Amino acid sequence: MAASYESRIRCLEGLNLQIGFWHDPEGVLNSEKIKSVIAIDGPAASGKSTIGRMLANHLVFLFLDTGCMYRAVTLAVLQRGIDIDDEAAVVDLTESVELDILPPWGKKDGRLYTVLLDGQDVTWDIRTSEVDSNVSQVSAYKGVRQNLVDRQRNLAKRGSVVVVGRDIGTVVLPEAPLKLYIIASTEERAYRRWIEQRNREKSLTYDQILADMIRRDRIDGNREHSPMRPAKDAVIIDTTGLSPEQILDQILTLDYFHALGESR
Ligand code: CDP
Repeated sequence: MAASYESRIRCLEGLNLQIGFWHDPEGVLNSEKIKSVIAIDGPAASGKSTIGRMLANHLVFLFLDTGCMYRAVTLAVLQRGIDIDDEAAVVDLTESVELDILPPWGKKDGRLYTVLLDGQDVTWDIRTSEVDSNVSQVSAYKGVRQNLVDRQRNLAKRGSVVVVGRDIGTVVLPEAPLKLYIIASTEERAYRRWIEQRNREKSLTYDQILADMIRRDRIDGNREHSPMRPAKDAVIIDTTGLSPEQILDQILTLDYFHALGESR
């Protein structure tokens, strides 16, 4: 499917996501733009970011990984020594931090995008086991979610976007015409995360990652506000044993892409 010149320009314009300062209180998606919004959810390391990125590249859409926003806020909490149990302080901090997501711009270290927290490059700092262990508690706070969901909706209203997270199809963008829920066996997910993380944190074992992942899935799935679950109309994709290319091929056979091709 060839991407039009116009959509390429739109993607380039959309790449500099100054999400800290850009707020439009009338941030609603119009009926035209919503047609090009794809929501992807699923548990930790199910492959949703890899697939989301590939899909966005294929369609020349913007890629928005909402997990990095929750991770960046968690890092800010840890760096500033804020008590993670102090919900009011965590929410205050969320409202005040400046978050930017930028393209990798020449950095050849495997990053999908660059994350700036108050101007500092924290792309890899948000991927540590310490952030992994604390992010689900921070993400469960209502005020944190309200603030970040607001920023996410503002970004998505530009259309032509693939948005990845836990509650995109159910809460952030329930109007999205295509909702995918990506799953894989817990063991395969832990193995993928172990491969990903072993160069950065050599002492981390597969068993530790597996245990943390199960704990995180439990918190994400049982929290009061926006628990992780598939939307009623989501297409469930099981990626166990499949390569990213096989998964993408499978997704591209969905009717949505025929309709999208015709309307572009
Ligand atoms: O990469 P991985 O799947 O391990 O996690 P992530 O997508 O970076 O998300 C990290 C954490 O942020 C999740 O475990 C959730 O607690 C939280 N999150 C959320 O609550 N809502 C989202 N839309 C995205 C992430």
